[in-house]
Amino acid sequence: MGVFVDVVTIFPSYFEVLDLSLLGKARRDGALELTVHDLRDFTNDRHRTVDETPYGGGPGMLMQPGPWGAALDHVRASRGADDPLLVVPSPAGERFTQRLAEAWAAENWLVFACGRYEGIDTRVAEDAAARFRVREVSLGDYVLNGGEVAALAVIEAVGRLLPGVVGNEDSLTDESHVDGLLEAPAYTKPAGWRGRAVPEVLLSGHHGAIARWRRDASLRRTAGVRPDLIEHLEPGQLDARDLEVLRESGWTVADGRFRPTPGPVAD
Ligand code: ADE
Repeated sequence: MGVFVDVVTIFPSYFEVLDLSLLGKARRDGALELTVHDLRDFTNDRHRTVDETPYGGGPGMLMQPGPWGAALDHVRASRGADDPLLVVPSPAGERFTQRLAEAWAAENWLVFACGRYEGIDTRVAEDAAARFRVREVSLGDYVLNGGEVAALAVIEAVGRLLPGVVGNEDSLTDESHVDGLLEAPAYTKPAGWRGRAVPEVLLSGHHGAIARWRRDASLRRTAGVRPDLIEHLEPGQLDARDLEVLRESGWTVADGRFRPTPGPVAD
């Protein structure tokens, strides 16, 4: 049996893209069972109002608790399944990472609450915590207009890890963020294009040398664009050549952690 995914939103049509591509196939195969709920169906007034001005003043509008409470009660009662995880996308949440995607791919029921405007009245998540495990997550340090795009990103990141969704399981291990590094640059045919050659080693058929070249390139790329990821590596998990590549890229091990080499980078 697959994973249940419920989404509550005022824009159900955002989620039509989940009919496409691998996630669409996962749904048709039953690996992912998606139900999208329109928050406005849980309002009681003629205008189907979901927002109000914030107490204490301030700009913008907040989503009112009433419709949210009713919608989440409805979702919770809609299945016999146990122990749902309620995901609330928000720029104020913890960072969503590949580690969370891996953990959530093992869940059996994910519910997404997509806020709009300046967010949802805080009491909604407090109240929901009695019936759901609640996680507020952010895609990154920037602000979207609402949780829909973030929920789509999380559903895709989790959905592709479900068994059988991505045809070749090896492609789930040789990619950025799986081992805390960015992946190496990649090339396909033709071997020469606009005067640019593919690195010789990739044409050599020498698997050991190719793996080493990719590892070096991955370390260098990560050191260049994501020093924060280098700081999180365990030096004890790396081999002598890894340490040499990082040293050349300006990183030294001190007190069991990688730190930028003080002073000018040695060559
Ligand atoms: N909603 C608005 N901005 C967001 C972000 N950066 N991540 C997740 N949800 C959001």
